[in-house]
Amino acid sequence: MRAVAMFPVEKQIRVIDRKPPLLEGDDQVRLRMLDVGVCGTDHEIAHFEYGVPPVGDPYLVMGHESLGEVVEVGSAVTGIKPGDLIVTTVRRPCGRPECRPCAHERPDFCVTGAYTERGIKGRHGFMTDEVVDQAKNMHVVPASLADIAVLTEPLTIAEKALVELDSIWKRMPWIDPKMPPAEVRKRGANAVVLGAGPVGLLGALALLVRGFDTWVYSRESATSSRAALVESFGAQYIESATLPVDQLARRVGNVDLMLEATGSAAVTFAALPAIGMNGIMVLTGVPGRAREVSLDAERVMRDLVLENQILYGTVNAGPPSFANAITDLGRFNARWPKQVRALVTGRFPPDAINDVLAGGKEAIKSVIRFNAPTAAA
Ligand code: BGC
Ligand code: ZN
Repeated sequence: MRAVAMFPVEKQIRVIDRKPPLLEGDDQVRLRMLDVGVCGTDHEIAHFEYGVPPVGDPYLVMGHESLGEVVEVGSAVTGIKPGDLIVTTVRRPCGRPECRPCAHERPDFCVTGAYTERGIKGRHGFMTDEVVDQAKNMHVVPASLADIAVLTEPLTIAEKALVELDSIWKRMPWIDPKMPPAEVRKRGANAVVLGAGPVGLLGALALLVRGFDTWVYSRESATSSRAALVESFGAQYIESATLPVDQLARRVGNVDLMLEATGSAAVTFAALPAIGMNGIMVLTGVPGRAREVSLDAERVMRDLVLENQILYGTVNAGPPSFANAITDLGRFNARWPKQVRALVTGRFPPDAINDVLAGGKEAIKSVIRFNAPTAAA
């Protein structure tokens, strides 16, 4: 079977031939891979700045944003059957006895750093014809979402941020802890998303379905198709060249929540003064190279204290965020069927991987298509 492999020593990415995986336990499932998305992390792996092959292997099979179709299930598997569409989680527990998060199946909060990630760190990924994994790492996706389900994993990044936000929001004493989070957020909260890449755009949709008044602040021109897409789903677009990021409150009013999806520390720290009273900023980007950023640290500290602000980072996602992402994709599909499909800007065969990685900035989400779904009507 085919696999897209990154060779860190040879500094090469190419399609190789591998033996198809077999079920090795009765709790496992074998998938035929359909779509695998390409993201910023893959670009870093492709620049040989990130990405670790499994111990003893000269290469890493890439790909962590996946959609597969079940071909075989182990005898102990329940709730998953051949033909089901599946999105598989990325991170696996470190297995160290001292790590409570991993023991609780939440390696996204791993404290030892010895976790692995399929297609990224120490484990082969999903850019291949067939994959075997444990059923507990898999989430069934409705067939109606087949052509957008590859967006599940990038959406989980914002979903996890929002799950954490639910608990932070409740710090306000007038908020009834029994009130459903959706009700809490409906009270006219302003959210700004920094960056109009896939994580930012999917995050904006997740905020919109929760009733936030949502702005997207990014560098693309206000007359670009990206800006038009943002406006078409009911968010407001702000071109960064037209408003310094620390002046966002002039357009938005009190910024209650800022979701960073740029990966740029310069933009992020410049934006910090824009968050409002009791404001919250959540960071999701992973900056690549070490570059110094200057910062008015006294102002940042003063604001954080005098305005009760919260700054937090979030990485990867646990099972609840995958479940939420699939639910939300269903909502997006009902509300914005055209726009959500426009996020997938191209599907390419595996041997086009190097062209896709070299591709231009116009693409939103490029997808490597291994196989077409058989279940598709
Ligand atoms: C992936 C996450 C992963 C992170 C760090 C992101 O691109 O979506 O699942 O944890 O990279 O490796
Ligand atoms: Zn990713």
